[in-house]
Amino acid sequence: MQVVHSIADLRTRIKEYRRKHDQSVGFVPTMGYLHEGHVSLLRKARTQSGLVVLSIFVNPLQFGPGEDFERYPRNTEKDLQLAEAAGADLVFMPTVDEMYPTPIRTTVSVTGLTSRLCGASRPGHFDGVATVVSKLFHIVQPDQAFFGLKDAQQIAVIEQMVQDLNLDIEIVPCPTLREADGLAMSSRNVYLSEQERKQALVLSQSLEKVKEFIQSHPSFSSEELVQLVSSHISTAPLATIDYVEALGYPTLEPFEIGHHPASIIVALAVKFGKTRLIDNLIIQVRK
Ligand code: PAJ
Repeated sequence: MQVVHSIADLRTRIKEYRRKHDQSVGFVPTMGYLHEGHVSLLRKARTQSGLVVLSIFVNPLQFGPGEDFERYPRNTEKDLQLAEAAGADLVFMPTVDEMYPTPIRTTVSVTGLTSRLCGASRPGHFDGVATVVSKLFHIVQPDQAFFGLKDAQQIAVIEQMVQDLNLDIEIVPCPTLREADGLAMSSRNVYLSEQERKQALVLSQSLEKVKEFIQSHPSFSSEELVQLVSSHISTAPLATIDYVEALGYPTLEPFEIGHHPASIIVALAVKFGKTRLIDNLIIQVRK
């Protein structure tokens, strides 16, 4: 496994690989502090791509004022160990100066899909994501890029960007990895106190309840789903709901009772103290 810090170096190595091999280049963009969720993307890439490129870059552009950019957890040594064990070939770890040497004047903004859920709570967040992912796509020029459904709105936004800008990249959505008790793995789980960690279980539990409810109530309304999730989350005294929504996926459009789309998402963001956690359930619904 090779670790590179400069864009020029990365480009040279990928070009060299392409000259020598007629195999695809797979790309897994991350912000580091890797856990099994990230590792699952690398493993998937390992099975599908000849060259597996991982990027580790905490992107300042996607953090709002007062968010956790400064204190975002980092552990390069452990990241590199996990990356190597998962089969990464090339790790790109640029500095902020390498990625943004001068104030950026060109940004990528995906409209519509970004007005709800995390886009509404974190103004500018998805512009930051779309811009950095677009830069990384141009630098790496992958054939496939692997993203986790834990960030389902992010996948919808990236897929829209790829379609609108005619990027020749296959986006591969990968399932959410969870801790043994159901909590979705996240680099931010490390912020939780013992009490918060225990209470954070209500998130995955509430989504399990929705799954059962949909199976036994084929003509559900989005309000019923939202109510079910919100009332279960409210049983945790330390939880403050940012949003709970039930929408079509990947359109992220609201739906009416009896007219639900083939695929729906129940998405939530909840704060425990300063820590904001997200989770979701995507479900194919029988008509
Ligand atoms: P980050 O939060 O580090 O996540 C990197 C990738 O890992 C994303 O595709 C995310 O959906 C996936 N991931 C995170 N937790 C997961 C879990 N529990 N199971 C499966 N996959 C999981 O998402 C970002 O970074 C950034 O926005 C980025 C795309 C790198 C742009 O800066």
